[in-house]
Amino acid sequence: METTVEDLKPESGTVVKGPQKNDETITVVDNRTNRVYTIPIVEGAIRATDLRQIQCSLGDPGLMTYDPGYINTAACRSTITYLDGDSGILRYRGYPIEQLAEHSTFLETAYLLLHGELPTSEQSDEWERAIMAHSMTHENIKKFLDGFRYDAHPMGILMSTVAALSTFYPESRNVSDPACRRMQMVRLIGIMPTLAAYAYRHRLSLPYITPDPELGYTKNYMNMLWKRLEPKYVANPVLARALDVLFILHADHEQNCSTSTMRSVGSADADPYSTTAAAIAALSGPLHGGANEEVLRMLEEIDTRDRIPGIIAQVKAGQRKLMGFGHRVYKNYDPRARIIKQVAEKVFEVTGRNPKIDIALELERIALSDEYFISRKLYPNVDFYSGIIYEAMGFTPDQFTVLFGIPRTVGWLAQWDEMHRDPGKKIARPRQIYAGEPHRDFVPIELRGRRDLAA
Ligand code: SDX
Repeated sequence: METTVEDLKPESGTVVKGPQKNDETITVVDNRTNRVYTIPIVEGAIRATDLRQIQCSLGDPGLMTYDPGYINTAACRSTITYLDGDSGILRYRGYPIEQLAEHSTFLETAYLLLHGELPTSEQSDEWERAIMAHSMTHENIKKFLDGFRYDAHPMGILMSTVAALSTFYPESRNVSDPACRRMQMVRLIGIMPTLAAYAYRHRLSLPYITPDPELGYTKNYMNMLWKRLEPKYVANPVLARALDVLFILHADHEQNCSTSTMRSVGSADADPYSTTAAAIAALSGPLHGGANEEVLRMLEEIDTRDRIPGIIAQVKAGQRKLMGFGHRVYKNYDPRARIIKQVAEKVFEVTGRNPKIDIALELERIALSDEYFISRKLYPNVDFYSGIIYEAMGFTPDQFTVLFGIPRTVGWLAQWDEMHRDPGKKIARPRQIYAGEPHRDFVPIELRGRRDLAA
């Protein structure tokens, strides 16, 4: 029902109130037409399409929302991960990340993210068996990998190789079949460490190591990375646990850039391998997962404490960003960064202290006392300390984002599967505000560029 502003009885100085209702609504007065609209609020949001009714002339397509970067736009409803950016809260299926990092394993957390509940002992055994059974790749994949230059960036290798898997499993296009989706999800989770390890070994011109399912997910990954001539690889338990915790911390993070890419590409019913390759591409960006590699390069550039003020000055002058700082959602300390700092100390007991941690801690201390960072609520994010641990463990910086992509594959797939289960699923197709040329007629080439004919 439409009422006009004349129907309202505003008292002087009071906010114009629409028809008094006890349900969740907002009342919008369109000052162009004096029309009043009442729009329902559901779960703290209004449907953007409810704004289309707000028109100011016949044929007017109605109001849109303009939100570059989707800063204030919910693109989906999800039950997987909850973030409270102001309080620095992160929960997977309701469980606080701190408790999962302390008590769970990565594969158990992966089960939780995909199924919604922690597994029983039997479910956990079956899950691990299924995942590890898919850690093996086709031999063709090794030939595909050998085609890359020795110095190819591992993220480029991972992205390309995962996309190539869509040609090995053409049946994966049947995305509407839950059983088919599950098969591909298990395959992708199982194969990612193998592809990542092969990319690492390719860089060093070392032979590929065959997966050893008996070792379990994370120790097998370390086996495929670092096994030499010993008959059976034995992972350092402290480093294995540290890597497993880092995998837990990186597993999902609601609608981040790469997950939104996964949902967007997946909404076209593309196969999960091509879709995951797109998510890997998004993650590789230095503003997203690629930041962990950039943080280490920044710390290398700083090198000594006395150079920190100069870097801070460059940041405040807008000449560069402080990599590993800031977040679209967290306007408080990223809870993952807090846990990663604790993991670092445990790793250093085995590997020896990485001196870059002292530079990073001093950089954090100075930044968090500086008005520029305080006023913009810029805190260390998940990428600020993780690379320091990875370097201490023996990874080269170009491997760091791969270490983000392995666990995040679980989050991407959980969100992708949730999208396909949503009866309201629609292909992603945002609108735009057109700001280009009005109608104009074609100009023959012989008349182009002539000033005398310029309109
Ligand atoms: C990840 O979304 C996720 O959940 C991502 C992630 C996940 O788990 O998936 O958490 C993983 O990607 C972590 C973020 C890793 N990226 C970096 O560390 C790169 C450095 N950070 C920034 O580029 C930035 O903070 C972003 C990209 C993370 C967030 O950018 P926003 O939300 O678009 O914020 P913005 O760029 O609009 O910044 C707001 C203000 C600006 O200043 P003003 O123009 O208002 O003066 O803060 C400034 C920015 O210049 N700012 C920074 C800064 N980040 C923001 N200034 C210096 N250094 C920075 N790092």
